[in-house]
Parts: sequence; structure tokens; C-alpha cells
Amino acid sequence: MIRAAIVGLGTWGQNLVRSVHSQSGAIEFVAAATRTPEKAREFAALHGLRMFESYEELLREPSVDAVVLATPHSMHTEQVVQAARAGKHVFCEKPLGLDAESAERAARACADAGVTLGVGYNWRYQPALREIRRLIDDGTLGRVLHIEGNFCGPSAYRFPKGHWRHDRDEAPAGGMTGRGVHVIDAMLYLAGHVEQVTAQSFRLAQDFGVDDTTSMLLRFASGATGYLGTVIATAETWRMQVFGSNGWAEVGDVEHLHTWDLKVCLIDREHVTVKQQPVVTSFAKASTERAELEHFAECAAARRPLAQPGGDAVHNVALLQSILQSIASQSPVRLG
Ligand SMILES: NC(=O)c1ccc[n+]([C@@H]2O[C@H](COP(=O)([O-])OP(=O)(O)OC[C@H]3O[C@@H](n4cnc5c(N)ncnc54)[C@H](OP(=O)(O)O)[C@@H]3O)[C@@H](O)[C@H]2O)c1
Repeated sequence: MIRAAIVGLGTWGQNLVRSVHSQSGAIEFVAAATRTPEKAREFAALHGLRMFESYEELLREPSVDAVVLATPHSMHTEQVVQAARAGKHVFCEKPLGLDAESAERAARACADAGVTLGVGYNWRYQPALREIRRLIDDGTLGRVLHIEGNFCGPSAYRFPKGHWRHDRDEAPAGGMTGRGVHVIDAMLYLAGHVEQVTAQSFRLAQDFGVDDTTSMLLRFASGATGYLGTVIATAETWRMQVFGSNGWAEVGDVEHLHTWDLKVCLIDREHVTVKQQPVVTSFAKASTERAELEHFAECAAARRPLAQPGGDAVHNVALLQSILQSIASQSPVRLG
């Protein structure tokens, strides 16, 4: 059993604690540190969390094996590095950093210290996404040609002026850090790394805060193409469709945290003029937050690495940086 501390007891930090509370044999939250302890005392008492005055004090506590970071984006890199130096395993909410060099530095610090680094891409624990991966691996979908996705919702209206989510340094490229990075992570899982991006981003709905309408074209190193949009001043929705040379697979709905259904539609090579109907598969209800934390805990207990230097979580940040460069230059950007 990994004894973990939650850092940042805002919306998502509390959700992560609840996802495993009294429900896991792999990880339990025993401690917490947050900026405004008064706001979280009741929650901490209810969930048996010992509150620490500061992150630094928490890192000195020998009974804590791992820290789970659910803090604003600009804090992630340094908090990961501090945890690694203190010999704690660390699970960091997405994104791992806000520029490629920082994200790589965070991953490198964990690798050098021999601690496990997890990053909060819980979509990877969706049974439907794993099934698409399997359909690619066993050749059912054929060669991956193209992936398209969107992840949208009214985030821009949820946070008042001055909230960190409306700070362009904390949340660059509109909905990308809040939403788009999840779709990117799913794309990286299915199609590998990206070698070129062309992006555009605008603030159209309000006169303050981050952009609300962001989109991009992607070219993967495999040769596949993709596009992604995130609109954060509209109603909640998301969708991802993977086109292979034998057919397509699609996921998407309103509730991205619930267990997804999967639609698959394959060509009949003997009858290519016949329009095929998709087959819909449902999966047993699962908590992706619990699954990601338990996987992290199992790796930490075995001292196995998870997110690594040069890996997908670092590449996701490098892509974010390239998206910003493309938005600024209004031209395609190749990733190094
Ligand atoms: N994987 C997912 O699906 C998912 C979903 C939502 C969020 N997230 C991620 O979870 C992380 C936290 O997001 P959230 O929605 O929980 O944010 P939030 O509700 O604003 O909570 C942020 C927490 O960090 C604390 N904090 C420490 N220093 C801060 C500072 N300088 N400015 C603001 N807050 C500070 C806040 O303390 P106070 O109590 O004093 O405000 C609060 O406890 C982010 O990385 C986000 O991307 C992931």
C-alpha cells in the first residue's frame, strides 16, 4: 500500500482523493498540503488526511511515500523536481510543465532519483481507448491514416476574471491545458509522436481571459494526419475518431469521465460499395482516476518507471509549446 499525500485540495485534488478513499488496496491518501488550509479542513478530517503547513514540510515526512500534485500548471515542474530530490514518488496532474525543457527536467529528476513519475492522463485507462489500441495492434483497423478530435465545454464561463484558469501563462492556447492535452495524449497513445503542427487560437466570446476557440492540424511521424479543436465557450461535448485503412473507430459523448462506448465500422473488401453500419460496444463501469492512481502506486511499490524523459508526457508539452509558436507565427512548426 502506497501512502500518498495530496497537494492542492481544489476541485480535482478532492476528486482524486475520493476516487480511492476506502476503495483501493494499492494506494491510500494519508496527508495533504494546500494553499488555503481553512478551505480544506473539513474535507481533510472526513478523509483522514493529516494537514501539513507547507509542501516542504510534507516532503520531509518519512511516512509519506508519494505525493500527488493537483495544483496550478505553472507549479508542476518545480514541485515534481522537489519531490524527486526528497525521494518521493510523484504523480503530477497534467500538463507535466508548460515548456519542453521544464517537462524534460522534471522527468529527468525522477529518473535520476529512482522515483516513479505518473502524469494525470486518465483517458488512457478507458477500456474503449485500450480496445482501439488493440484493434490497431492486431491489424483490424489497418494502417492509422488520420485522427480527429475535439474536447469542448463552457470552461471560460466557469471561472471569474482573475482566476488562474484565465491567466494566459497558466493556460496557454485556450482550452489546450484544460482539455486538449487529454485528446493529444490519446492521439499519442494511438498514433505516436507528432512531427509538425499548424495552429490557430482566438478569444471570441468574452472580453477577458484566455482564448476560447483553438484548433490545429497535426502530422504524425508515422505519416498519419490529425486535427483537434477545443472550444471552451460552448456546451459540453467531446469526440475522437480514428480512421484506419480498414475502417474507423469512434468514441465521444458529453461525459468524458464516464466509461465510454465504442463504435467501430469496418470496410467489407468484397463489397466496397456497401455502406457498413458501425458496431457499438459498451464496457463495464470503471473509474479512470482510481485506475491511474493504482497503476502509479503499483509501479512506485515496484520502483518501476512510468513517465520517462523523452516520453509521451514530455512530448505532449513540447507539442503545446510548438502549438503556441505556430499560433504566434501563423505558420507550421516542426517539432525537434
Ligand atoms: N485529469 C483531469 O481530468 C483533470 C480535471 C480537472 C483538473 N485537472 C488538473 O488538476 C490540477 C488542479 O486543477 P483544479 O481544477 O483542481 O484547480 P483548483 O480547483 O483551482 O485547485 C487548485 C489547488 O491548488 C492550490 N494552489 C496552490 N497554489 C496556488 C496558486 N498559486 N494559485 C491557485 N491555486 C493554488 C489551490 O489552493 P486554494 O484552495 O488556496 O485555491 C487549490 O487547492 C490542474 O493541473 C488541472 O489541469 C485534471
